[in-house]
Amino acid sequence: MTAFRLDNLRQHRDILLLRSGKAVAVRFVEPDDAEALQGYFRSLSVHSRYNRFLGAMSELPPTELEHFIHVGERDRFSVLAIMVIDGVETIVGEARYGFEADTASFEFGVSVDDRWQGLGIGSTLLRNLECRAAAFGAARVFGDTLRSNDVMIGLARKSGFNFIRHPDDWKLVRFEKPVDAAPQEIACASSRLAAQQLAHQATV
Ligand SMILES: CC(C)(COP(=O)(O)OP(=O)(O)OC[C@H]1O[C@@H](n2cnc3c(N)ncnc32)[C@H](O)[C@@H]1OP(=O)(O)O)[C@@H](O)C(=O)NCCC(=O)NCCS
Repeated sequence: MTAFRLDNLRQHRDILLLRSGKAVAVRFVEPDDAEALQGYFRSLSVHSRYNRFLGAMSELPPTELEHFIHVGERDRFSVLAIMVIDGVETIVGEARYGFEADTASFEFGVSVDDRWQGLGIGSTLLRNLECRAAAFGAARVFGDTLRSNDVMIGLARKSGFNFIRHPDDWKLVRFEKPVDAAPQEIACASSRLAAQQLAHQATV
């Protein structure tokens, strides 16, 4: 198993603009974020948590939280979407992704705080994730969602994903898309920097 390590996590921050003109920062989770991240998951509605974790879960189990806050561990990465609300930096969404070099596949899961859903954060985050996939050199990006999750299915369709049968679970549907954009054509400078660092580690 590879244990990727990124230097100075704070430099990898993307600033994304929503259609309202509001800015959302996307940055890697850091160990200090453990409590805030757990608080974020607890504050999601039961429905959103169920959709995010594909089953009932009141919060992240401690071992899973440990994995989430250690970016690069088990080749997986967590990012937070942060907005300044009433002067306070607030987590409004998160995503977790992994890159499998053997199949050049990039898999992700995502959520947005219920109070901030429907404002374009999900679609903006998805574009940023596609950019991260391209920066890794992925050929394909995919995610799994419950067949009942109309919003995620609608978002994936709108974002140009195709739908295929899930290989092991009839309750899920897999949405996938080839990665055809070169990373420099998309705005995610910080992800390119991170991918370069990781590629460098893989070759030394
Ligand atoms: C899925 C999720 C991430 C979408 O985030 P969001 O910030 O609300 O998404 P957006 O505001 O960018 O809108 C997404 C698109 O979804 C679609 N959509 C929204 N509500 C919908 C509904 N009820 N039915 C079908 N499609 C819907 C629309 O295409 C919408 O785009 P539009 O606003 O241009 O019409 C969010 O709802 C969420 O966190 N859900 C709980 C966790 C989850 O389901 N995660 C997915 C597991 S991978």
